[in-house]
Amino acid sequence: MARFDGRVVIVTGGANGIGAAVAARFASEGAKVMIADIQTPAATSDSIAFVKTDASSAQEVAALVEATVHKWGRIDMLVNNAGLGALAETPDMDEELWDKVFAINTKAIYLFCKYAIPVMRAQGGAIINVASISGLSGDYGMGVYNASKGAVINYTRSLALDCARDGIRVNALCPGLIETAMTQLTVARPEDREAWLGPIPLGRMGQPSEMASVIAFLASDDASYMTGAIITADGGITAHTGQPNVPHRRSLRN
Ligand SMILES: NC(=O)c1ccc[n+]([C@@H]2O[C@H](COP(=O)([O-])OP(=O)(O)OC[C@H]3O[C@@H](n4cnc5c(N)ncnc54)[C@H](O)[C@@H]3O)[C@@H](O)[C@H]2O)c1
Repeated sequence: MARFDGRVVIVTGGANGIGAAVAARFASEGAKVMIADIQTPAATSDSIAFVKTDASSAQEVAALVEATVHKWGRIDMLVNNAGLGALAETPDMDEELWDKVFAINTKAIYLFCKYAIPVMRAQGGAIINVASISGLSGDYGMGVYNASKGAVINYTRSLALDCARDGIRVNALCPGLIETAMTQLTVARPEDREAWLGPIPLGRMGQPSEMASVIAFLASDDASYMTGAIITADGGITAHTGQPNVPHRRSLRN
């Protein structure tokens, strides 16, 4: 028997990148998957359905949750993955863009939880919020992204408390640099790629499938005593204080 046989999962932002890998992973382990995205996924199947949904619209989120229950009768797992990046220092940050980033990265999680939790209470389950290592520390020129993902992390803890007695576990994943459309431009120029990959202890970008495997673990019964946890999967970059690696210092004695 597969790990998610008989279970139903909603994956937001499941048409591309990390979300698409998550949808494929859950389907391969027996789940029925409902993708909520503004873009159309490359393929659907008996196990993977899609309803065009703007994750920041209360009306569309409510309709998606209803469509999922209508199609598959229950919701066991919710992966809040839809997200948007934005680059600008604060004086140059457009107010509309600030609101849009918060609407998709942060408010959408509130909306999906608001409508899905009452359904999930029937049997319990798991919610995984895709935050970022950029929610744990700051990045240059990424204030709105840092703020929106920081909010996701603390909201995850609050949701974990509120949902615990309903048997719903809530955890967050903080990916590092993952190879998707979102980071394509970031590493497009060789010198930029070197600058971004250099400080990553594992020396490479992560793959969407490597995020999907952590998310599947957090959703599974193997993580049955985990809730309110903030898990990094970042090639080791947040293990580093930022201080330099100077090999000759190792031979110095105080
Ligand atoms: N790629 C990385 O390096 C990285 C690192 C840390 C965190 N993350 C986070 O992982 C998540 C997935 O990112 P990705 O790299 O796969 O990006 P991606 O751009 O490949 O995919 C994001 C998906 O979200 C969808 N989306 C955007 N706005 C939406 C909306 N309003 N409603 C519904 N869907 C919407 C997009 O259509 C797309 O399919 C995001 O939350 C992102 O912030 C990514």
